Amino acid sequence: MSTDSLLERRFRVLGRHAPLFYDKPLQLVRGEGVWVYDADGRRYLDAYNNVPHVGHCHPRVVEALSRQARTLNSHTRYLDETVVTYAERLTATFQPSLSRIFFTCTGSESNELALRIARECTGHEGIIATAFAYHGNTAAVAQISSVFTAAERRGPHVRTVPVMDPYRERNGRDDAALAAAYAAQVERAIADFAAHGIKLAGVLFCTAFSSEGLPVVPRGYLGRVAALAHAAGGLLIADEVQAGFGRFGSHMWGHEMLEALPDIVTLGKPMGNGHPLAGVVTTPELMESFTGRNMYFNTFGGNEVSCAAGLAVLDVLRDEKLLENARVVGEYTLAGMRQLQERHAIIGDVRGRGLFFAVEMVRDRASKEPATAETKRTVNAMRERGVLLSRIGLADNILKIRPPMPFSRANADQLLETLDAVLTEL
Ligand SMILES: Cc1ncc(COP(=O)(O)O)c(C=O)c1O
Repeated sequence: MSTDSLLERRFRVLGRHAPLFYDKPLQLVRGEGVWVYDADGRRYLDAYNNVPHVGHCHPRVVEALSRQARTLNSHTRYLDETVVTYAERLTATFQPSLSRIFFTCTGSESNELALRIARECTGHEGIIATAFAYHGNTAAVAQISSVFTAAERRGPHVRTVPVMDPYRERNGRDDAALAAAYAAQVERAIADFAAHGIKLAGVLFCTAFSSEGLPVVPRGYLGRVAALAHAAGGLLIADEVQAGFGRFGSHMWGHEMLEALPDIVTLGKPMGNGHPLAGVVTTPELMESFTGRNMYFNTFGGNEVSCAAGLAVLDVLRDEKLLENARVVGEYTLAGMRQLQERHAIIGDVRGRGLFFAVEMVRDRASKEPATAETKRTVNAMRERGVLLSRIGLADNILKIRPPMPFSRANADQLLETLDAVLTEL
């Protein structure tokens, strides 16, 4: 089946608006580690995907999934040791107060549940998110997913704060001053709620601020936000769907890196290495308060096979020292990107922690005008040369690089050399 005729068939059944990456869509047929292969047998370096977190088709995850699928897969209303063990192992990676978990199947469902918990347990309705965030696709979550939902469709109970952009906005300020300035935006949103008779239920941020372009968050910012939320009777909700499971190398969770303690944490994408497994981690008090009023049940969320996959992911992260790998290879890659920045004027800024990078492209380093069209060309040219990445940010001018965790120095060299060649050609 040629890629063109498959594309036509897809359009006929999935419609023309179901998103597809790249000007020339890719038909992937196989994956292994950091590599994926297209229908013609061509190999690509995956520098984008965090779903196959411990590597595409990791044999230990595949074995755990298939062993459990051969043994039992029912639903979530029976006692099962794998499920309980996984819940124990996973919650043990959090601060002690975050010791309870609800299992779900997607990040959207996790954020939906987080909103319900926040609203029911505080008795308040207001939610603050950033002005260019993606948190998922349910009705309530779409209202706070400002990247795709226009302001007039966010409803009266949602306020957004502007996307922080220290690359353009630092103006010589130190972290404390910048954190205070950005936290003041949250304070203003809370005040605006109050002016409309709305009380704060929670502030919900992606701890990577990924859609926003991976800004370097000033130290102390999220702690200040937590304090403001609590003072207003609301909660701090950390969306770890992209940042979690050691992506930043230094910590298992993004909120730890940002030195804040949330009340609710939402999980997804990397959790089952591609198997639909997600969750909401919270405190015993919030779980008791919520479940005292609601019977929360999820047929598939946290079933035996999902939890077997989740356990295998935790095992591989530990046994293959993948957080350390993210730290070491991440620093190496970042240094290489900074060298590229010296040679290519179009690279205005390079940011990153662990294995999550943003390369911001600008037409002019003084004005910092976004190089949107050039960034799109770069993403497509990288794909033509066998390296997969994508782009983010308000102006879509930031290369998003977030490879599977076993990414090696040799992989980093290939990424950097290919980017060098593409930017030279550009
Ligand atoms: C930060 C963040 N939260 C939530 C979601 C929603 O997750 P899902 O697509 O599994 O519903 C996404 C998906 O891209 C995400 O990036």
